[in-house]
Amino acid sequence: MQALLRPVDLGALHLRNRIIMAPMTRNRAIAGDVPSELAARYYGARAAAGLIVTEGTQPSVHGKGYCRTPGMHSAAQVDAWRTVTEAVHRGGGCIVLQLMHCGRIGSHHNKAPGARTLAPSALRAAGKIFTDDVGLVEFDTPEELSLPEVQGVIAEYAASARQARLAGFDGVELHAASGYLPMQFLSTGTNLRRDAYGGGLNGRLRFVVECLEALAGVFGSGRVGLRICPGNPFNDMHDERPLETYAALLRSLERLELAYLHVIRSPDPAIDAFALARECFRGARIFNDGFDFVSGGEAITGGSAAAVSYARAFIANPDLVERYVNGWPLAAFDRKTLYTAGAEGYTSYPTHTAAAG
Ligand SMILES: Cc1cc2nc3c(=O)[nH]c(=O)nc-3n(C[C@H](O)[C@H](O)[C@H](O)COP(=O)(O)O)c2cc1C
Repeated sequence: MQALLRPVDLGALHLRNRIIMAPMTRNRAIAGDVPSELAARYYGARAAAGLIVTEGTQPSVHGKGYCRTPGMHSAAQVDAWRTVTEAVHRGGGCIVLQLMHCGRIGSHHNKAPGARTLAPSALRAAGKIFTDDVGLVEFDTPEELSLPEVQGVIAEYAASARQARLAGFDGVELHAASGYLPMQFLSTGTNLRRDAYGGGLNGRLRFVVECLEALAGVFGSGRVGLRICPGNPFNDMHDERPLETYAALLRSLERLELAYLHVIRSPDPAIDAFALARECFRGARIFNDGFDFVSGGEAITGGSAAAVSYARAFIANPDLVERYVNGWPLAAFDRKTLYTAGAEGYTSYPTHTAAAG
């Protein structure tokens, strides 16, 4: 049997295969940052994946950066997410919520009135962000979080995880990649703090470690994953010594016994993020970025990865697992509808069987 099709346990998560749906922001949430009715159909149609990691979801109103992204901090959101977890569980699948606090990456145009843009240090990211109101705008200049506010954000992650449990999720993944809040704490270019959450390597790691401890306090560490991409400059990130930062981070997590580490290939050719993960993280590793069925299987048989995640391939192929199993061709997705509201480009892609029939 192809290695990707063999069952595996990632901590307390029991996967029937090792083909994971990677997190993808799709900007279909409705008023109140509530997942739309389409979300249950979208995720339910992909339940044959060994594990689904949802789109990045903000743990609080302040954590929202982009337009139409869902939250996990209100009763209406919990109710809507419950329809998603039920649809995936009906299909025999397993689903974790990706918690994504954007920190300084955001615009007040995309946020509820009164919501703030917060970061470890008051440094604006270079670049622009799309808003429904006024199109492309500069990122907000963030406010520096005070020490009690940092602890408040960690408490918000924990509160959000409690809501995720109520909504029926099997676990949570902390998004610490792509230049969002946890990565802003980790990186020398965005963390100029002198208190316990900055001022040196151990201080920069503290936020991520304490977030993971807080999430583990809710779900148990065997249901908590972490996503990283060492050295990714996306969203104006810079770290002077990413290898040192991530090696120290991963070693400091050993005692936590997380469900998994989700590693994205580094765009920096000088950084082999997979080798780093192999060296410094003993638990289950999920590899991501640019894999197909063959190379994904090889990552597993080589002993490096427990599972492999696929993002873009799942967009136009709800039945990706079945297509891989049968050697059926993959459909291409339409870029224009990646982030637009509504069903088109979201729940409109047919399965291979439906398309052929
Ligand atoms: C439309 C789209 C939205 C994405 N949103 C997220 C997200 O919310 N959280 C995240 O961690 N990564 C996100 N990613 C990154 C993917 O999870 C993945 O790392 C990347 O697409 C590479 O994997 P692939 O080659 O299998 O597509 C997104 C990617 C795409 C294409």
